[in-house]
Order: sequence, then structure tokens, then C-alpha cells
Amino acid sequence: MHCTRKITDSISWVGGCDRRLALFENLFPLPRGVAYNSYLIMDEKTALIDTVDSSISRQFVENVLSVLNGRTLDYLVVNHMEPDHCANIADLMLRFPDLKIVGNTKTFTFIRQFYNMDLEGHTITVQEGDTLSLGQHTLRFYFAPMVHWPEVMVTYEESEKLLFSADAFGSFGALNGALFNDEVDFDRDWLSDARRYYGNIVGKYGPQVQSALKKLSGLDIRMICPLHGLVWRNDLGYLLDKYDHWSRYQPEEHTVAIFYGSMYGDTENAVDLLASGLVEAGVKNISVYDVSSTHVSTLISEVFRCSHLVLASPTYNNGIYPAMLNFLHDMKALNLQNRTVALIQNGSWAPASANQMKALLSEMKGMQILDPVVTIKSSPNDDTMAPLIQLKESILSSLSNL
Ligand code: FEO
Repeated sequence: MHCTRKITDSISWVGGCDRRLALFENLFPLPRGVAYNSYLIMDEKTALIDTVDSSISRQFVENVLSVLNGRTLDYLVVNHMEPDHCANIADLMLRFPDLKIVGNTKTFTFIRQFYNMDLEGHTITVQEGDTLSLGQHTLRFYFAPMVHWPEVMVTYEESEKLLFSADAFGSFGALNGALFNDEVDFDRDWLSDARRYYGNIVGKYGPQVQSALKKLSGLDIRMICPLHGLVWRNDLGYLLDKYDHWSRYQPEEHTVAIFYGSMYGDTENAVDLLASGLVEAGVKNISVYDVSSTHVSTLISEVFRCSHLVLASPTYNNGIYPAMLNFLHDMKALNLQNRTVALIQNGSWAPASANQMKALLSEMKGMQILDPVVTIKSSPNDDTMAPLIQLKESILSSLSNL
């Protein structure tokens, strides 16, 4: 049975949700599922904005046919050629033999690479700023390269002022009946997954996101319609501010995220002592993560949230604890920068992880290391407490200067 929602009188959401997929891109856990959004505009000409993942093709086709209600599909706009949005192009071409696919040069290169399709006579290649009239509605195309792939463009519908934003402004999470941001408690239920989606999927491309935000800043936008997650129809400034912070690698909050590896609980003990001291001193919203049992995508997300990081690592094979090393490599790969970092190392006979963490952090931009580095020999004791308290004071002083 079709399951659609109206965005406006003439524009419908025809996407769907997947609550079975364990890992997005076979990498990122989806405990709340994921939505694949697609939008159908009904006018003198009909136009579909992107398709969906193959996992929900059946639902998607029922949705599209239901809204078309016997009419043909004239245009398919491909804003993003990643397969989670493109699995149904061939099927649509079979169902609608006169269908024209709208994309840019790179879009069509990718379609041919992925699907080996004969597109002869079915393509409309657009340039930056080109328009396509559907009747009452006019689509204008803006390129947004590397948000999140090089062919990405966004489509602005001029009469109703809707921005179809591709991956930008998306989130992990199935919609569960809601479609609009004002139908949910976003801060409670969605923000952490929106941040995790941004940080891990688009996070590396902050400068490109900044360029796109600048380019779109002159548009009068009433709604933002991304390819994943909720449609935004009010409080757009809230979302744009989040994206501005994330893409400039500026923290959302002045607070502390503590990340530790611990083989026998001793490094964890030191971290608990530090966290308690910070909270007693009045720091709010501290988080503490065991890097071995927390997916690295969540750790990355917390770096995007917090101004101060504490990295506490045992020395392992004369190096950094493997799960911490993986986290640091991911931070570097995602271009993370501009954080204040405190280091704790543990080593029973030759503590060595702090210097190696420092070396990796020095390869990232704007990472400031606080003094002192705390060294634990096997387990915290009275000798450890003085440097640990000094580190706490150093963090508090740094926070108060922000
Ligand atoms: Fe949801 Fe970059 O694809």
C-alpha cells in the first residue's frame, strides 16, 4: 500500500524508511533506522527529485504511482548519484519510456559507471544556475560539489521556495510517521543522529559545505527537503547554525568529552576521577566513552559537539591502544580541528602512548594540547592525583577563557 505525505498541495514525499539495515554504507550503525527521501512535483509536467535505495524500491514505486495517479513521469532530477538514492532509475525508465533525466556532466558519468545504462535521448545536462520550468513551478540548479560527492547539486523550487538539498541537512533515523521537524522533539530524539550523520558522512568537507552555505544564503528558503531525515519547515536558522558550526569545525558546546581505552579498569578509574572533579567544579554535559565499546562514528560525533577532549590511552605494543589509534586516524581523515585536548597515558613499564597521540594530533589543524600530560603507572594512586588535579584545573581554566 502506498504511504506518502504532502509537503505542499502539489509536492509530495514519496520516500520510505529502512529499519532492517544494520550498517549505513556498511560502516555506520543504524539503531534508529534510516529514511530515503524522494519528492514528486505535480504540475503541467511532473518531476521526481531523486529516487531511493534498492531496499525500499517496492514501497517507493507504489508511492510514485499513487501520486502520479495515472499520469506519466516527465523528469527525474538526480541531485546525487550515490546508489542509496539512485537504485530505481532503470526501473523508472522502463515504466516511463519518455522520461528525461536531469543532471550535470558528472551525474551522467556516474550513472553510466554504476548502471551501464543506455541514456541516449534521455538526458538533460544542466549547468550552474540553469532552470527547468514545469508550468507553475520552476526548478533552479546549484552545484554543491563534495557535499558529499563531486556531482552533487541542489535544486531550488522558486514558486514555493523549497530547497531540495541532497545529503546536506540530512540525518540518520527512520521517520516513524513524522516528516517535518516540528512534528518531533528534535533536540531530544534527532540531534545526536543528525550530528553523527553530518560528522561521519559530510564532516571531511567543511570548506565545501561553507561554500554551499554561502552560495545558498541569498535564496529565500521556506523549506529544506534533504535526502535523509526530516523536512525542515520552521526554525531553519537553528539548522543552518548547526551546519555553520560543524562545517567551520567550531564546537557546539563549551564542555568536555572524555574518551578512554582501558584493559583492566585502571585508566577508566583515572577518567572517572577527572570527570567527577570537572562536574563538581560545575562543568555541564560532560560525556565519557569507552573507545572499545562505542562505535567510532559516535566518538566522532562527540568531537563535533565538544570544545575540549580528553584522550586516555594505555600503552599497547609500545604504541597507542588500538581502538584509540583508530579513533585518532578517523579524526584526522575527517579533517577535525580546533579543539583543546588533554592527554592521559598509562604504561606499566614504558608509558609511550601520550607522545604518539601528540604526534598524531599535531597533524591536525588547531589542536591545542593542555599541560600537564598525566602518566599512570598501572593504576592511579596518590602520586597520580596531583597531576590529575592539575589537569582538571588546566581544563577548567581553558573553559573559562572561552
Ligand atoms: Fe545518502 Fe551521499 O548519499
